[in-house]
Amino acid sequence: MPHDPKVLDHEYDGIQEFDNPTPGWWHFLFYLFIVFSFFYTVLAFAGSPYLPTPEDKHQTEKIAAQKKKFETLPDLLPDAMTIASYSKSEPWMDYAASVFAGNCVLCHGAEGGGAVGPNLTDEFGKSIKTIEDIHMVIQNGAAAGAMPAWGQRLHPKDVILLSSYVAKLRGTSPMVGIAPEGEQMEPWPDAPPPVEPEADSGDAGDG
Ligand code: HEC
Repeated sequence: MPHDPKVLDHEYDGIQEFDNPTPGWWHFLFYLFIVFSFFYTVLAFAGSPYLPTPEDKHQTEKIAAQKKKFETLPDLLPDAMTIASYSKSEPWMDYAASVFAGNCVLCHGAEGGGAVGPNLTDEFGKSIKTIEDIHMVIQNGAAAGAMPAWGQRLHPKDVILLSSYVAKLRGTSPMVGIAPEGEQMEPWPDAPPPVEPEADSGDAGDG
């Protein structure tokens, strides 16, 4: 049998080895992924705008947990005390921030500083004088639909929690804020944070 130049010289127990190198594209991918993993690791630890940070994930989980509690939240009344009170509840305001992010930022800016819609962080209101007016505007809309009515689209409790969120935006400093419109609003009433039922610890009923 003529010697095939691709068959290597050594032979063990009649077993020979064919000279079959890994293809170039395989090497290319191999080194490409090593380089990729290097940058991925650096970005993952140094914080990349493309990867969720641990804080983002934590926030997402907190909001998901709060959404589960939404069902057990009692029916709320859109009165001044309820709106002022829930504006002091950190977990409900985190939840309301996510509803605001999903429905309102397009027109009111990520931080409520205003765009198409007015600045919600300043001391002035176009259709708002008292804290209850916030609920009325969100529920029914304003300016012939330029501000849409949310009463039919969102849950009544969502509209109230959003009102608390908007109340809480007053006096904050957004990065982008448009000029105030309307008239000076009344000060919001002070109210204690809502008393929420203790988290269900699973041992109810022994005692
Ligand atoms: C399509 C754009 C648009 C969207 C989306 C929108 N708004 Fe508005 N909003 C407006 C405009 C425009 C006004 C001003 C209406 C007027 O001229 O009185 C306004 C007014 C308001 C006001 C009264 C401000 C004032 O000074 O009188 C509040 C409060 C408000 N919006 C809250 C919200 C909330 C909460 C959401 C999300 C659920 C939302 N808006 C979504 C456009 C929008």
